Formats: sequence, structure tokens, C-alpha cells
Amino acid sequence: MTSDIMPASHADRSRTQPPDFPMQRRCPFDPPAEYERLRAQEPVTKVRVPTGQIAWLVTRYEDVRRLLTDPRVSADRWHPNMPLTEDVTPQTRRNIAAFGESLIGLDQPEHGPRRRMLITEFTVRRMQTLRPHIQHTVDGCIDDLLAGPRPADLVDALAVRVPARTLCELLGMPYEDRDLLERSATAQLRRGVSPQERQRNGVELRGYLDKLVSAKEADPTDDLLGRLILRNRETKLYDHELLVGLMMLLVIAGFETTANMIALGVAGLLQQPEKVQAIIDDPAAVGVAVEELLRYFTVVDALPRVAKGDIEVGGVPIREGDGLLLSFLSANWDEDVFSGATRLDLDRDARHHMAFGYGVHQCLGQNLAREELQIVFRTIFTRIPTLRLATSLEELPFKTDSNIYGLDELPVTW
Ligand code: HEM
Repeated sequence: MTSDIMPASHADRSRTQPPDFPMQRRCPFDPPAEYERLRAQEPVTKVRVPTGQIAWLVTRYEDVRRLLTDPRVSADRWHPNMPLTEDVTPQTRRNIAAFGESLIGLDQPEHGPRRRMLITEFTVRRMQTLRPHIQHTVDGCIDDLLAGPRPADLVDALAVRVPARTLCELLGMPYEDRDLLERSATAQLRRGVSPQERQRNGVELRGYLDKLVSAKEADPTDDLLGRLILRNRETKLYDHELLVGLMMLLVIAGFETTANMIALGVAGLLQQPEKVQAIIDDPAAVGVAVEELLRYFTVVDALPRVAKGDIEVGGVPIREGDGLLLSFLSANWDEDVFSGATRLDLDRDARHHMAFGYGVHQCLGQNLAREELQIVFRTIFTRIPTLRLATSLEELPFKTDSNIYGLDELPVTW
């Protein structure tokens, strides 16, 4: 059966138009208020994305989880009905598709063997070996912050630097090149960066990673990329282009998400001073708090998929070829699963949240993200116990124009 979900221009204009997606937030920390109504009344509903495509938005936890383990649900970024939440040029659409081919846009049977080649690089134990490096980075950033003027912007001073430097270490970038990745990655996050500048940065980063992959293909070193290249000599699953695409994926997936979670997490924690004290006093408390912060903020709201067959979900028939948007943010605020979900409850056991997605594409870097977040939160509040916002919560510049939620700036003083 073919799709009855057509591009907007083909839709019957006499029917009520579906609401636009992304939906507006009214309170900066809260998801769009409409999600609550949708979960109760229309858990699977049509929305229009900025490209004009119409897709099914799925908002309940159980439905999102079920679809993410359904083999009829495809992550194939080449599919023309894949709903993109940003209006992009045809060239950018092709870039997204090409980059997806390295891992994130693959379905079975291709996805499993490619992902397995990377699993050993992201185990809890492997990530723990990065701990001293992350701690050193965080301490260095805090030293600089304390030596500089007050108030200061914590996004610039810490939130973007920690994930950028951690990625350099993870990928095994030579020290002399590390500035480039930090500059290029952080430039992507600056407010007011034009699409052209973003594109230029992306091209520069890709050019650099291309050279890095070539250098390590010639002389594999003992780091993620070097080891992957050696493993690949046996499996031959990645050609040169795919390796470059995979490195891009790791930088893109691992940078902005973590940077925004650091900034939002600090802002969230500053609202609960007694919990900050608990984190300082009890090292185990920070692990629990990080899971709840991940749930509460869910910086990646919704990800796109396409139905490869007819599926019924929440009583709604989805047809083959229909676009889907699975909202992790709405799922993580589902009262049926997290009671009192609207409350940031730093003692809650939130480990079953879906901030890292679910199913075969569940975040490969989650152990690394946890290490970074735990070290940042513990260290900053231990070293600067008087840290506070230098502006009111309402005045903070929340990102409303990006696929990944976060803060453009976090002015703090102490
Ligand atoms: C707080 C930080 C992070 C958040 C919230 C996050 C979130 C996510 C989500 C929601 C997905 C699922 C995508 C999908 O289903 O289509 C994902 C996938 C992925 N993430 Fe993360 N991520 C974070 C940090 C990282 C880091 C640090 C890395 C690596 C350096 C990373 C690498 C990846 C990769 C490679 C995938 C694709 C996995 C696959 O397709 O098999 N992420 N992430």
C-alpha cells in the first residue's frame, strides 16, 4: 500500500491544516504545552514540518518505544518522505542522507555489523579511561573562568569546551590540530551564525576529518579511529568516505547535545541549591541527578523515521511511506511513566528515560556523555560553591531556532 501522507502542496486544503512542527514552547524549561493535550487526546497526530511535508507526530512513551523496536520503521535518510525538522536546500538534504549512511540512517541488516565495530570504543570501562582527561579539561576551564572577569558566560567558558576537547581526545586528533576542531565546532553554536557560515564550517571540518582519516589509514595509531581502521581491514565494512562520514557523525552527535546539556543542567541545578549541596557531599548523587536532568531537558526533542510497512499505533493506521516524528521529549514527560513529570526531581530514578533514544540507534556515546556531565556538575559546584545566575531565569537566551534545545549563553557570577 502506498502513502496517503502527501507533501503539503498536494494535500486537500479544504481540510483543517495540521499544526506546525516544531511546536512553540511558552515556558523556557517546559516542553510545548500542546504535548500534554496530544498525549491525552491525539497521541498520534498529523503535523507539518518546515519543509512542508506532513508527518505523524507520536507523543506517548509506550508508542514511541514500540515504534523504535519495530523493524517496519526505517531510519533511512535517503527516503524522500523522511520528515526533516529544518527547511534545507536539496544539497543539504543530500548531505544529511550521505552522512546518515555511515550509521545513523541505516536499517538492518546493514546497521548491526557497522555498529558492532564501534561498540568496544564506547563501553563504560573504555569511557572511564577518558576520566582523567575530562577532569583535567574541566579543571582548566574553571581555572580560566575564575581568573577572568565576572559575570562570565558559562557556555563559552565551559559548556562548549569540554565536549570539543573530549572529542579530540576520543578521536585521537594530534594536539596541534585540536584548536581547529574546537573553533569549528563551537562556531556552529554561536548565536546568529548564518546558514552560509555553518555550511563553510561544515566543509572545513569535513576537509580536516578527511585528512585525519587518510593519515591514520597510512599509519593507524592506538585510538578510536586507528583501531577502527585496523578492524576495518578485516571486515571492510567502511570505505574511506564512510569513515569520514562516521567521524563527522561522532563530532556532530557528540558535541552540540553535550554542550547544551551542560548549560541547561547547570541552569537547572542552580534552581535547586539544596540538591547542589547533595551533589557536592555525595558523589553517587550526581549520577542520579544527571539521569533526571537528561529526562527533564531532553535536548533532542524528536527524530524522524519512515514507515516501511503498514503499522497501527495508538489506534491510528500508519501507511507504508508515511513520515514519523517520534518525540523523546514528550515521551519523557509522560505522566503514565514518570509521575510528577513536570517537576525536576533530582532524587527520582529516571534511568528509563529516552533522552538517548531507544532501540538499535540508541545513543552510542551515552556512556561518554554521562562521564562528561557528571564530572562537570560535580566539579563546578565543588570548586565554585557560590556560583549563581547573573541574570533572571526568564532573561536567559534559550535556543528556539535549533533542532537541539539549549542555551545560547549562560551568564553566571560567584
Ligand atoms: C547529552 C548528550 C547526548 C544526547 C542527548 C544524545 C542523544 C542521542 C539520540 C536521541 C540518539 C538517537 C538517534 C536516533 O534514534 O535516530 C543518538 C544517537 C547517536 N549518538 Fe548521541 N547523544 C549525546 C551524546 C553523544 C556523544 C558524546 C556521542 C559520541 C561521541 C554520541 C554519538 C551518537 C551516535 C554515533 C549515534 C547514532 C547511533 C546509531 O545510529 O547506531 N552521542 N544520540
